[in-house]
Amino acid sequence: KKSVDDINVKGKRVLCRCDFNVPLQEGKITDENRLVAALPTIKKLIADGGRVILCSHLGKPKGEPKPELSLAPVAKRLTELLGQEVKFAADPEVVGPNAKAAVEAMKDGDVLLLENTRYRAEETKNGEAFSKDLASLCDVFVNDAFGTAHRAHCSNVGVTQYVDTAVVGYLMQKEIDFLGNAVDNPKRPFVAILGGSKVSSKISVINNLLDKVDTLIIGGGMCYTFAKAQGEEIGKSLVEDDYLDYAKEMIDKAKEKGVKLLLPVDTVAAKEFSNDASFRVVEGSLAADEMGLDIGPKTQALYADALKDAKTVVWNGPMGVFEMSNFAAGTIAVAKALADLDATTIIGGGDSAAAVNQLGFGDKMTHISTGGGASLEFLEGKELPGVVAANDK
Ligand code: 3PG
Repeated sequence: KKSVDDINVKGKRVLCRCDFNVPLQEGKITDENRLVAALPTIKKLIADGGRVILCSHLGKPKGEPKPELSLAPVAKRLTELLGQEVKFAADPEVVGPNAKAAVEAMKDGDVLLLENTRYRAEETKNGEAFSKDLASLCDVFVNDAFGTAHRAHCSNVGVTQYVDTAVVGYLMQKEIDFLGNAVDNPKRPFVAILGGSKVSSKISVINNLLDKVDTLIIGGGMCYTFAKAQGEEIGKSLVEDDYLDYAKEMIDKAKEKGVKLLLPVDTVAAKEFSNDASFRVVEGSLAADEMGLDIGPKTQALYADALKDAKTVVWNGPMGVFEMSNFAAGTIAVAKALADLDATTIIGGGDSAAAVNQLGFGDKMTHISTGGGASLEFLEGKELPGVVAANDK
């Protein structure tokens, strides 16, 4: 696949699709990891003398120019992070008169950020008109938006049909290298840890990973569906009754494949979903009015032990309700166990990345993905439309 290292952008208008879909609170960016991760490609394009036009979506404005979902705060923060002005093309049409004039005025090495691509309703429909509008702004297209790669939208897929050159950026390349290598060519033992609340959102991931890993560790809300499938009493814990058969199938599949499947042996249970609720560690059945909110200490030790010889680890989904301090111990224990390993440790985006960063283990991991949905689909073994489109050119 061609990357920004294979092209000459000197004097050219380069449209670079990034994923600047960052959380905002009252106009302030509360997690800027996606901006920081985009800098290497942007710096490279500047250094090579390109006219760098950045674009991204933000949230779901559904075709309406909603001021609270403007990318203006991102332009401001990128200016600080780059130490160079990033002009903002305020334009409700995204590629309207203001944006076109701003591109016209650019000099080599300048950086401009377009308005939220989802201000245009066609964006998420991968429509022709907006794809052509975007392509008309540039000579070269760079896709560095890994977080958006599971979407087939104008700004990452449609646009590639109307440009002569489309390549991937460094972030996209790094994500594909780490996630792809981990899954297809792992150093063994290869251990995957899956958590989070729902089995239903991880069906294909579990199924695909059982073909690849040596050990699969399960925690988080979804382990109660597995527990119930094995006839355990789980009180009022989160459960997806429609997936009990699926959970049994996965337990059987693990046996057939010789994969060690680890499920919790104890649980931290409370009567309310609240950090103020009193809680206790339970081995075996929960009372009817109790719910499990974290893995217990024996499970923490069991999981840490299963990880100690691992050479590749992929982790997606917290072990408990880590946002509440009384139910964060399981997630912290797993993060600690990973931090101490001499192994390639890869953290899926979304909640897991947020947990690892918030708990202060960010710099202890080999790679933290910037993609939530995209990293999950990658682990499902799917081809991502954003990656395919950039590679096809
Ligand atoms: C993400 O945050 O996962 C990506 O930016 C994609 O956003 P979306 O789910 O709104 O398409």
